[in-house]
Amino acid sequence: MTKDCTVSKHPVIAEALTRMRDVNSDSATFRREAARLAGVLFAEATADITASEEVRETPLAPFVGSKITGPIAIVPILRAGLGMVEAALALLPDASVLHVGLARNEVTLEPETYYDKLPEAAEHRLAFVLDPMLATGGSAIAAIDMVKAAGIPDVRFVGIIGSPEGVGALKSAHPSVTIHLAALDECLNDVGYILPGLGDAGDRIFATN
Ligand code: PRP
Ligand code: URA
Repeated sequence: MTKDCTVSKHPVIAEALTRMRDVNSDSATFRREAARLAGVLFAEATADITASEEVRETPLAPFVGSKITGPIAIVPILRAGLGMVEAALALLPDASVLHVGLARNEVTLEPETYYDKLPEAAEHRLAFVLDPMLATGGSAIAAIDMVKAAGIPDVRFVGIIGSPEGVGALKSAHPSVTIHLAALDECLNDVGYILPGLGDAGDRIFATN
């Protein structure tokens, strides 16, 4: 993949994703492995964010330390993006969490917005949009449209599984957005699910169906 879409090769991610995909994994296992995977993936996705030098003092002497340049927003797409939030906050504890509620219409596969906390986003310089599944790409594109309309200039997408169709659609709608994935799967099935995928991420995280 090109630099604008990176697919992790980390063995922790590969093992966690194997457990997530497994039809025999229950919701507790799925949630735990999603959080484990998201921690490594988010570490990779934040590896090049900027920081400035800060002079502080140890008990013995001054030293030149580092402070990440903010403010940064974490934007989970409800519901399934919630499964990645704690891992993101563990690395960026000063970030704001701005929720976006989108539900994919099961017939048209178009996303429908039911919650938008982005009007408060304007002061942020960088946003990480989180959603485990990039299927047709409609939900990620709609969320990033909203993030950009709110005035955040630098946007990255962090997902768990992408499809070639979703990556292509997102790249063409938002060429400036870097995409970070744990896996790029084969294709979509005829009802818009990723194959082999992991099924319905929201249902598996929250034990609903
Ligand atoms: C799922 C998933 C993404 C979207 C991906 O959410 O979490 O948001 O579908 O599909 P797309 O790329 O074709 O838009 P869903 O709408 O099922 O809602 P949920 O998270 O509440 O289950
Ligand atoms: N949403 C999911 O949760 N899974 C898919 O495979 C596609 C959309």
